[in-house]
Amino acid sequence: MHEVRGVVSMTKGAPVTVETVLVPDPGPGEALVDVQACGVCHTDLHYREGGINDDFPFLLGHEAAGVVSAVGEGVTEVAPGDYVILNWRAVCGQCRACRRGRPWYCFATHNATQKMTLADGTPLSPALGIGAFVEKTLVAAGQCTKVNADASPDVAGLLGCGVMAGIGAAINTAGVTRGDSVAVFGCGGVGDAAIAGARLAGAHTIIAVDVDDRKLQWASEFGATHTVNAKNQDPVEAIKAITAHGADVCIEAVGNPAVFQQAYDARELAGTLVLVGVPTPDMTWTTPLLDIFGRGGSIKSSWYGDCLPSRDFPMLIDLYLQGRLPLEKFVSEKIGIDDVESAFAKMHDGDVLRSVVMFS
Ligand SMILES: NC(=O)c1ccc[n+]([C@@H]2O[C@H](COP(=O)([O-])OP(=O)(O)OC[C@H]3O[C@@H](n4cnc5c(N)ncnc54)[C@H](O)[C@@H]3O)[C@@H](O)[C@H]2O)c1
Ligand SMILES: [Zn+2]
Ligand SMILES: [Zn+2]
Repeated sequence: MHEVRGVVSMTKGAPVTVETVLVPDPGPGEALVDVQACGVCHTDLHYREGGINDDFPFLLGHEAAGVVSAVGEGVTEVAPGDYVILNWRAVCGQCRACRRGRPWYCFATHNATQKMTLADGTPLSPALGIGAFVEKTLVAAGQCTKVNADASPDVAGLLGCGVMAGIGAAINTAGVTRGDSVAVFGCGGVGDAAIAGARLAGAHTIIAVDVDDRKLQWASEFGATHTVNAKNQDPVEAIKAITAHGADVCIEAVGNPAVFQQAYDARELAGTLVLVGVPTPDMTWTTPLLDIFGRGGSIKSSWYGDCLPSRDFPMLIDLYLQGRLPLEKFVSEKIGIDDVESAFAKMHDGDVLRSVVMFS
C-alpha cells in the first residue's frame, strides 16, 4: 500500500481538494505507475459538476504519462521502468467488436480491479478508469502504452485523451486525406488537434471556426489555412465562399446543436460530418430526412478519435519527435497539484489550451 497525494472531487459542484490517497500494490493484470505529468481536461470538470455520474468521490485526471514502477502477476505487456502514456481504451480482445477486427469499438475495456481509496478506506472512482492527478496510480496493465521516452511527459500525456480525440476524429473517423477541404468548429484543445491531424493527413484547405480571436490565432499555428470568427460572420457562408462549394469534412468540436447544424450546412455534397463535442442529455437536433438523403455522405460521431492506443500513441509520439506534429503547442502552462481548481477557471475563460500538472 502506498500513501500519496491526489486531486479529489468529494461532492457535486464543490471545489476539488488535495487528499491523501491509498494506492494498493498491483494485483494480477494491474500496473502501478509513477505519474510524471497529467493534463487538465474538460471531462475532469464534467465529473466535478456531476455531469458524468454520481459516483463521488472521484479521483480526477486522465491525460497522463509516467513510468511503470511495479506490475502484478501475469503482466507481460509492460515492465517496471517502462515510459508510458495512460489510455482509457485497454481493449479486451474478446468482445464482438474486437473479434470483428474493430477493437477501437471494444465493449469491455479493462481497468484496475482493486480500488484506490481515501485514508479512511472510502473507495475512489477514478476519472475515465484512470485517476492520474496523483503521485502514483493503479491501472490495468493494458492501460499503459509504451512510447519513446525522448518525448517529455507534459507533452506525451496529452495524447491520452483530448489531443488523441481531435487528431483521431480527423484521421481515423473522418478519414481526411490529401487534397480534402476540412472545417473545424470550435478550436479548443480538441479542435486544434483535429486541425493538426487534418494537416498531417494532407488536407489542402483547413478552416478554423471559433468565437474567440485568440483561439483562431492558435488554430493558425496548428495548420488552419483560413479562420472564421462566427461572432462576426456566418460560418456557413464563409466556408462556402472559401471552398467554392462546401467542405469535404466538417468536424464539430464544441458540443452544441446550433454549431452541429452549421457544420451540417457547411458540408459539401457527399461529405463527412463528425461530432466530437460531447452533448448534454437535453440537446436534440432535427432536420428534414429528405435533406439527409439528398446530400448523401456520412454523419458520424467520434469517441477518443476511434484510436487504438497501441497503434496510434507510439506513431504520433514518433511524428512529434520528427518535428511533424507540434504537440508541445498544446501545453499552455505547467502547474502544481494544488492548482487544478484555478486551471478549471482558466479553461472556462478560454485562457488556455491545456494546463498540465507536473509531479517530480
Ligand atoms: N469525443 C471525445 O472522445 C472527446 C474527448 C475529449 C473531449 N471531448 C469534447 O470535445 C469538446 C471540446 O473540448 P475542448 O477541450 O477543446 O474544449 P474547449 O472548451 O477548450 O474548446 C471549445 C471551443 O469552442 C469554442 N466555441 C464555443 N462556442 C462556439 C460557437 N458557437 N461556435 C464556434 N466555436 C465555439 C470556444 O471558444 C472554445 O475555443 C468538449 O465538448 C469535450 O467534452 C470529446
Ligand atoms: Zn473488446
Ligand atoms: Zn479527457
